[in-house]
This record gives sequence, structure tokens and C-alpha cells, in this order.
Amino acid sequence: MNVGIIGCGNISTAYLKLAPMFAGFKITACADLNPEAAAAQAAEFGCDALSIDDLLADSSIGLIINLTVPDAHFEVSASALRAGKHVYSEKPFVLSVDEGRELLKIASDLGLRVGSAPDTFLGGSHQAARQCIDAGTIGDIVGGSCCFQSHGMENWHPDPTFFFQPGGGPVLDMGAYYVSNLVQFLGPVKRVVAMSGRPFATRTVTSEPNPGAVIEVNVDTSVRAILEFHQGAQVSFSVSWDVWSHEHNHMELYGTGSTIYVPDPNRFGEPVRLNNGEDETQIEPLQVVGAANFEDLSGEIIANYRGVGLADMVAAIQQDRPHRCNGELALHVIDVLTSMMQSAGTGEFVTLSTRCERPAMLDDTAAAALMA
Ligand SMILES: NC(=O)c1ccc[n+]([C@@H]2O[C@H](COP(=O)([O-])OP(=O)(O)OC[C@H]3O[C@@H](n4cnc5c(N)ncnc54)[C@H](O)[C@@H]3O)[C@@H](O)[C@H]2O)c1
Repeated sequence: MNVGIIGCGNISTAYLKLAPMFAGFKITACADLNPEAAAAQAAEFGCDALSIDDLLADSSIGLIINLTVPDAHFEVSASALRAGKHVYSEKPFVLSVDEGRELLKIASDLGLRVGSAPDTFLGGSHQAARQCIDAGTIGDIVGGSCCFQSHGMENWHPDPTFFFQPGGGPVLDMGAYYVSNLVQFLGPVKRVVAMSGRPFATRTVTSEPNPGAVIEVNVDTSVRAILEFHQGAQVSFSVSWDVWSHEHNHMELYGTGSTIYVPDPNRFGEPVRLNNGEDETQIEPLQVVGAANFEDLSGEIIANYRGVGLADMVAAIQQDRPHRCNGELALHVIDVLTSMMQSAGTGEFVTLSTRCERPAMLDDTAAAALMA
């Protein structure tokens, strides 16, 4: 399938670099509100730079990857669908449950598919953890603790303003990695309760090219929530860009037989640990979507298979089966994240209005079928 990108900013480089690793699709064109951004990526990666209208009108393109900023996600995805193309969006899928429902309706009316990142939950670490959980190795999961805490985005992203405006914030920006992974382990969430804060009114950029620029903060930058799952587990979740240092794990789940330590849900391939109170066991990530293959910003070689969710979606369209990073999962995740913020605003529990199935496991055999 020929695929086009709309949104040629920071993350488009990872998609363009990693796409040749996957079977089933080829990125043939890209577009951006800023034509120079599209031209630069097209020149570097050997695809066509088009205007947005020309890209949407190009009948050779079957799917659009939406890599625009969060508050453009709904409009860009809707316009791709209305142009007759499947769409795969970066997270956050949309900014509200209403937008998500509308997008799924447009897609279903037109017989098209919607998919969304994150696809990191398909990574070798998280699929190895999933195997342990599904095999009953840790017993019934009754509780857990998740934590994403840092001091924000203004120290690395070249254009960090959008992170601190409505549609940004750590919950919508980072929450999907954690909640998508929890949903694949535990199934859908029933209700949430949360509190939040905004301790810094402004942020001063330290990254290039605009060090010293001051950003007004218009979202809450710390949220602390408890999620209750339909299967019964209660999981606490701290999400913050106001923390200089901490020593919490990304994700630990407490089973009746043992604890499972799940590595960073924003990464694909780190070891999983199990501890039953007496013995500690380390489980290596599944390898096809878990082996180190990519140099990150710090020079560390890590596993990076961003795009595997898209490869699965393209294969699923061809095989007429559900795709794993699907719209119902993405909608439920947005419901959880927006409900956390709603609860923080009102002080009330919020019962979710959406549900979804657990996405199918991606074992090494299924993953190998997605690779070029
Ligand atoms: N940067 C990362 O490491 C990263 C990682 C994972 C996910 N994401 C997600 O990817 C998305 C993009 O992030 P980014 O860091 O690349 O942002 P960015 O600001 O670097 O790039 C966004 C690009 O989209 C373009 N754009 C904005 N509105 C548009 C519209 N309506 N039509 C066409 N183009 C439009 C902008 O001109 C810009 O070039 C965000 O939703 C973000 O959460 C980013």
C-alpha cells in the first residue's frame, strides 16, 4: 500500500527512517502546512513533497499517517477519511471522546479503517509481559502502580510550545503509552478518580533553536489518578512534568502469585522482571520487535519499531482481520485520559462511557510476518 504522511515535524523522521523495515507499505509522499518541512523530509528520504490537497487527491495513496500536532489530529484524520483513505494517527488519537466517536463513525460509514499510535505495547518487552500474564504465571492481577514523571519537554523538543497548551499536557502526551499497555494486559477500565496541579505558570525553553523562550502553561502538568479495571484491579497512575528526580518504576502489577515489573511503555525492548517474594526472574523481550536496532538522541542503541502498528493495520486490511492499534482501543484510551482530567477538575469519580477488546497478542511468528 502506498502511504502518505501529513505533518513533517520531529517524529516524521522516525517513521520515514524505520518504514523500510516493514512489509506491506511504502511512504511515497508527504505534506505539511509548512511546505519547506515537507520538502526537506522528501529530499532526505526520497519521496514526493506535495501540498496537503494534492496528497489527499492522489489516488495512488491508500492510507495517511497523521503526524500533525494534537489539536489538528481530528481535522486532518477526518479529511483523510473523507478523501477515501484509511488513517493512522500519532497519539493522542483525538482530544475528546466525542471527536473519537465521530471519527469512527465517518470511517465506518465510508468502509475505511482508523488506527492510532502508540504501538509500543506491541514491543518485545510488553508482549513478553503479556505472555506471562496470559499464561497465569503471576496469578490474578489485583493492583498496580504506574509512574511517568520528568521535568518536561522544553529541554529537548525543538518546538515545545504545544505540549503546554490544551491538547498537550503530560496526560494526553504520555498517558496513552501506559494506558494502552494496561488495557492490553487487563482489558478495559471501568472508572477513574484523580487530582491535578499546575505548579509552574511558565516554562523556559533550554533546547535549540529557541533557548530562553518563555512558554505560558495552559494545562495541568501533574495528575495523580487511580484506575479501576472491569476485571477488578486498582492501579495508581502518576503523570507529571514537574518532577526533577524520582525512583519509581514505570509500571508494576501485583498478582496473587507474584509482582511483574514492566519496563518503560514508551520503549520496545527491555527486560521484564518477575518477583514472587522469594525469587526474582528476568524475562528477555521477544526479539522480532524487541532487539536493539536504533540509535536514540543520547547515542544509546535501543529497540525502536515505531510503525509496527501501522504495518499490522495494513496487513489486517489486506487479510480482513482486526488490527491491533485500532480506533476502538484508541477511543477507550482517550476516554480514560480525558476522564482523569475531568475527575481532577470536579473531584468526582468518572465512569467511562467506552469499552474495547484487548488487542490480540503479537508473538514472534505474527511479528515476523510484518517485517520486510
Ligand atoms: N516528537 C516525538 O518524539 C514524538 C513521539 C511520539 C509521538 N509524537 C506525536 O507526534 C505528533 C507530532 O509531534 P512532533 O514532535 O513531530 O511535532 P512537531 O511540532 O515537530 O511537528 C508537527 C508538524 O505538523 C505540522 N502541522 C501542524 N498542523 C498541521 C495541519 N493542520 N496540517 C498539516 N500539517 C500540520 C507542523 O507544521 C509541523 O511540521 C504529536 O501528536 C506528538 O504527540 C511525537
